[in-house]
Amino acid sequence: MDTKKFYITTPIFYANAELHLGHTYTLILSDILARYHRGIGDETFFLTGSDEHGDKIVRAAQKQDMGPQAFVNANVAKMQELIKELNVSNDLFIRTSDKEHHWQGVTKLWHALEEAGDIYKGIYKGLYCVGCEAFITEKELVEGKCVNHDSVPEKIEEENYFFKLSKYAPEIKRLLESGELKITPKSKVNEVIALIEAGEEGGVLNDVSISRPERAIPWGIPVPNEPNQLMYVWCDALSNYITALGYGRKDDENFKKFWPANVQVLGKDILRFHALLWPAFLLSAKLPLPQELLVHGFVTSGGKKMSKTIGNVLSPGEFISEYGLDSLRYYLAREVSTGEDWDLTREKFKEVYNANLANGLGNLVSRTLKMAEQYFEGEVKGDTTSVPPLRTRIQEVEALGDLPGLTLPYLITSDILPRYHVHMTAYEVNKAADAIWELVGHLDQFVTDYEPFKLIKTDKEATEKVLWGLLYGLREISTMLAPMMPETAEKISELLGAKVGKEGDITFSSNVPSEPLFMRK
Ligand code: ME8
Ligand code: MG
Repeated sequence: MDTKKFYITTPIFYANAELHLGHTYTLILSDILARYHRGIGDETFFLTGSDEHGDKIVRAAQKQDMGPQAFVNANVAKMQELIKELNVSNDLFIRTSDKEHHWQGVTKLWHALEEAGDIYKGIYKGLYCVGCEAFITEKELVEGKCVNHDSVPEKIEEENYFFKLSKYAPEIKRLLESGELKITPKSKVNEVIALIEAGEEGGVLNDVSISRPERAIPWGIPVPNEPNQLMYVWCDALSNYITALGYGRKDDENFKKFWPANVQVLGKDILRFHALLWPAFLLSAKLPLPQELLVHGFVTSGGKKMSKTIGNVLSPGEFISEYGLDSLRYYLAREVSTGEDWDLTREKFKEVYNANLANGLGNLVSRTLKMAEQYFEGEVKGDTTSVPPLRTRIQEVEALGDLPGLTLPYLITSDILPRYHVHMTAYEVNKAADAIWELVGHLDQFVTDYEPFKLIKTDKEATEKVLWGLLYGLREISTMLAPMMPETAEKISELLGAKVGKEGDITFSSNVPSEPLFMRK
């Protein structure tokens, strides 16, 4: 079989403060997709990293009386620690201050834009939001402030290099309309097209400044042959997606193998950079565009975007220490709909945890394993043909035919699993998780229908068939859960102790967990 490649990226995060739940969502969502693709055998490359240049960083460093390099080093160390704690399986962490791995590629990209005739010198006069690290127009302001950062932008007038973004606007519009550059959710396509159309009348979509005059503290990548100019931080930052693969270096096998990205995950705050500037750079450099931008909403806190700059952040560590990492991963996988904003409260988290993890999955696992232990000393033999039919379907699935013949294994292979895979490959992680919890519901109902704790008194053989069905279902659950809750999935799989025989029969040598998977709170 042909193995496919799968390249997935997150934005590189500003190394100016600690990561909060918003960044955690981006990382976990991307990790779930990367783990899923590794699991189905795709050759996968998962990239994340840190964005370390620009005014925002220099100012934050100054506030702490630190030089920018020492400052970002300290923040990146914390970032990497958190990423490890989140069990994020990135293959590489790219740092934009890494001269050896990043700078050559950025310089090469700059030269490519130059050769295409797309860079020229001009005067920039206007407003700049340091929070966004972006020029901003009057009409984007609300009450004179940037909506993302709740701050008044600075007036700037300086000589810079410009990039001919306007030249690529029609082509980008065409690519968006034809779906060659896919953006999920689709509503975001219209948003970007609206930006382009507004620009055509002399609005937002002008050419963009891509360099800044060097400041008192030079901190950035120098413009080639221009000692007094540094590259605009977004130009430097966006390039990471290819420099990380070796673009511009001798060892560029990964670039050849993995570019273009299958999916680039990002929050809606930075959509325009990824849907306009980034494609324009790539078109100018005659490089292929990413296949898809997966854009997610904001986690809000008190109704406002959770933001390091605003200072209303909830830390992932708080949830991890109270509920365990996989509970947080569960929440982000299932309770968040990728395209939409969501407000997180401690109360809601607890409610969902108790309902779906402690009482839901956790309880199902422990009662099943306890019965297996008590009635069969954990040894349960069988195969898919021996499982009795479902008596109650918890949800109507019309295509599946009559209930009397409908067994758990059939329901799983003909309905649950296909839907899970359809959603995972469409990056609809929450819907894939719903399919898993539907199965949890079916298994709970199966217990209610057959009451193995009563059945055991009259019919041991029939009880074994029922229990085997439950263990089989749990095994399927652990496989589907693996990308979302890797530690839990492994724990369940170990507890089940499944051995697959030659005929496809499975013998479970299960164990009862020494403590509940999810303690009730
Ligand atoms: O923008 N809700 O870095 P950044 C959900 N360095 N996601 C959030 C979030 C929130 N409240 N806050 C942040 C930058 N994020 C640039 C990117 S890429 C070439 C350069 C997530 O540290 C979300 O993915 O501000 C958002 O796009 C990203 O963090 C921005 O992180
Ligand atoms: Mg930000």
